[in-house]
Amino acid sequence: MNLKVFCLSLLLFEASCLTEFEITVPRDTVTGFYSEVLILPCMFPVDSLWDLKSTVITWQRGLDVVHSFYYSQDQLDRQNQRYVNRTSLFSQEMARGNASLRLDKVTLQDTGVYTCSVSTNTGSQKKSFGVNIAAFYSEPRLQFSMLTDGLNLLVTSDGGYPSPTLQWLMENSDITNQTQTHLMQDTQTGLYVVSSWISLTEVTNSSLTFILHNKPLGQDIRRDIQLYSDKSERQEGSAYRCHGCFILIPVLLLLMMIMMTVLFVFITKRRIKEQTKKNGFTEMGYPNETQILNGKSSICL
Ligand SMILES: *[C@@H]1O[C@H](CO)[C@@H](O)[C@H](O)[C@H]1NC(C)=O
Ligand SMILES: *[C@@H]1O[C@H](CO)[C@@H](O)[C@H](O)[C@H]1NC(C)=O
Ligand SMILES: *[C@@H]1O[C@H](CO)[C@@H](O)[C@H](O)[C@H]1NC(C)=O
Ligand SMILES: *[C@@H]1O[C@H](CO)[C@@H](O)[C@H](O)[C@H]1NC(C)=O
Repeated sequence: MNLKVFCLSLLLFEASCLTEFEITVPRDTVTGFYSEVLILPCMFPVDSLWDLKSTVITWQRGLDVVHSFYYSQDQLDRQNQRYVNRTSLFSQEMARGNASLRLDKVTLQDTGVYTCSVSTNTGSQKKSFGVNIAAFYSEPRLQFSMLTDGLNLLVTSDGGYPSPTLQWLMENSDITNQTQTHLMQDTQTGLYVVSSWISLTEVTNSSLTFILHNKPLGQDIRRDIQLYSDKSERQEGSAYRCHGCFILIPVLLLLMMIMMTVLFVFITKRRIKEQTKKNGFTEMGYPNETQILNGKSSICL
């Protein structure tokens, strides 16, 4: 009688053991930042019986082997070429059931469905999830040329992915359909360069706003451009003023552009530094953005 109860409970125990071997991977698609480190999470259950020697961990993308581990060590003979020297597991974390993969220097080609397979002396399971790679657009550069009857404004931003949504506002009303946008893709990296321009035939005192939105990263770039016109005074006919204006304006514009470039290079460097310090997708903060956001560009005509 006692033996029967014991057997029954053992059976139940084994059954629950089998169903309990459940690995955990992200439910949603994971987004990685271009050229940075991406950690692909995968957790497996460990108990007191767990043993490293009988643990097999395999990461695959489709049929390609991304990384594999057995006999207590990395086994990279069958690793796909494009993952060579870019993958690692966290061996100190394994006893805690951590089979996460570290993937270095991600590129757009790393996009895809990844499968984590774990097999230990207590069970085995595999699960898949999607990985997307995205890249931040750079600080937009403003260029303009004066036409005989107006002004041409061109805004360019590069190094981003996927394609952004652009919007132009003039005094808070949408003028996007008066602008033209050109999207160019770098043949090597696959990243986009986006250019957007508008021709203004009549320049009045007004404010323009350029908005770039990169949805997967939640990146929102919003830049104000102030336009000034002294037409009313010009009509009064002061040749001296205008003469001065025409010399002064290009010099001021040049100075402004140099300043913007310097700022941009400085901020990009800092951002790259900061982003490599943090890892991957945990923080999308944009600590320096406000400095530029607050600065307005002004054009005087
Ligand atoms: C990987 O790293 C090793 C040692 O640092 C190096 O010899 C090899 O060329 C690298 N392979 C690739 C594909 O980068
Ligand atoms: C797995 O280990 C890595 C590296 O230490 C860590 O970043 C990650 O948070 C760990 N995962 C969990 C769920 O603890
Ligand atoms: C631009 O959009 C406005 C409203 O959004 C519309 O009334 C106008 O016809 C559009 N103009 C062109 C050139 O498409
Ligand atoms: C634009 O504003 C400036 C002052 O900021 C003023 O001197 C100028 O007359 C204004 N131009 C027009 C066309 O209103």
